[in-house]
Amino acid sequence: MAWYKDAVIYQLHVRTFADSNGDGVGDFAGLITKLDYLAGLGVTCLWLMPFAESPLRDDGYDVSHYERIHAPYGTLGDFEALLAEAHARGMRVVTELVINHTSDRHPWFQAARHAPAGSAERDVYVWSDTPERYAGARVIFSDVETSNWTRDPVAKAYYWHRFFAHQPDLNFDNPHVRQAVLNVVRFWLDKGVDGLRLDAVAHLFEREDTSCENLPETHAFLKEIRASLDERYQERILLAEVNETAERTRAYFGDGDECHMAFHFPLMPRLFTAFAREAAEPIVDIVTRTAELPDGCQWALFLRNHDELTLSAVDPAERAALQAIYAPDAAMRLNHGIRRRFAPLLGNNRERLVLAHALLLSLPGTPVLYYGDEIGMADDVRLPDRGGLRLPMPWNDSGEAGISVSAQAGDAASLLERVRKLIAVRQARAALRHGSIAFLSTGNPRVLAFLRRTADEQVLVVANLAGSAQHATPDIADADAPIPIVDLLDGAPVEPVVPGGPHRITLAPYACRWLSLVTGRRLRR
Ligand code: GLC
Repeated sequence: MAWYKDAVIYQLHVRTFADSNGDGVGDFAGLITKLDYLAGLGVTCLWLMPFAESPLRDDGYDVSHYERIHAPYGTLGDFEALLAEAHARGMRVVTELVINHTSDRHPWFQAARHAPAGSAERDVYVWSDTPERYAGARVIFSDVETSNWTRDPVAKAYYWHRFFAHQPDLNFDNPHVRQAVLNVVRFWLDKGVDGLRLDAVAHLFEREDTSCENLPETHAFLKEIRASLDERYQERILLAEVNETAERTRAYFGDGDECHMAFHFPLMPRLFTAFAREAAEPIVDIVTRTAELPDGCQWALFLRNHDELTLSAVDPAERAALQAIYAPDAAMRLNHGIRRRFAPLLGNNRERLVLAHALLLSLPGTPVLYYGDEIGMADDVRLPDRGGLRLPMPWNDSGEAGISVSAQAGDAASLLERVRKLIAVRQARAALRHGSIAFLSTGNPRVLAFLRRTADEQVLVVANLAGSAQHATPDIADADAPIPIVDLLDGAPVEPVVPGGPHRITLAPYACRWLSLVTGRRLRR
């Protein structure tokens, strides 16, 4: 089985994770001291947010040198040490490839603005004499930007930027740019990184009379990156960040010749809709519609990440409903999305937080945990932009009652220990990692039930999305003459059941049960 299909990915920011020298900024040396914590949690792959040299006006998503490390985080040698230490623990490392744009401080942009119009240096970015071109492209950071064009007084021309004005877009029509990007890919893969998250990858090319998103040229270039990766390296992956509808996101897998993985942006808001409505249907609907993928491809599932909970690909009625429930204060909103962390979004209700993790770890796809969410970390909506989602990891008591690693470690009832248990059970059960999925009727719209099945094992997942106790009768008639035999999470005995018949289960508020099914035949042996 491909490693990434069995992985548990943990997203973290070197800047905020662990500070080894007390300068107030996290660093690679600090991160290395926390690898045992992560291994103990069951993490098998790190995703590191950008750590290349940057003025940090977009927290590193504004790169000023692709092959240098942002000095406060350490040196290239420190990064290599991190890689070696992670690999020694059987942990993979995925890093960021932020290629749609650079920082305006990047030497390429500084050369471009000073170079004559029409020169090779100028042509590394996208320029225009008027701000009228590509009018079909929306403004993404609409809270702060009003146009995708900004006039540069030095060049005396407008440059194109899909994000902040300090992030000029590279010109992917220029073959030298494409080659330079392939060189950056090789630089990091040669260092030994196991995968690249392709940041903002829907926006690489521009064409008149289009949205300038998901263009055929973009897919063609991704196939080129993939071919170069397959030619030279083994077991390395591309992970697409494409915040789009199911159909458009699906296209980034190509025919199995583009990205290995893509974030399941279509699922994420539906999970929050399901939690809000206490209804299973939004989850069943989207997972069913996105179940089939080309060979070798896999969804990356997530609850939250470092950005606002994006609602830009959600229909307006659902967006308004989600905002009303999850972002009652204006300060909680950003760019049509919600800038809150996972625990406060779900009211810091521990049972609900465990339920959400139980779904993250049992629905089909590779789970991606955002640092701190395993302890129910808080946010701070008073900070600008998305800063309040990226606070320092609270290793020791932080003043917030119980919300630190040390306060929870070893306490079996804590969120941390329950998440650890969920991961351990998932990692011990192939059916939960890559089994097929079949949704089951339950006779109760508030209860989600599905069967994950491999040739050897079957796990029945039953989840009560409601804050009140519920009964359900998951229809397990199609399972292989199953008898629920053991609750994988608490080891509690399961109520006796008629093989093949309906099985009545009572679920506490927000309870999720993972039941191992054993066939009658195997039981007799
Ligand atoms: C991606 C990143 C986001 C960043 C943007 C521009 O969406 O996730 O944090 O601001 O790209 O680089």
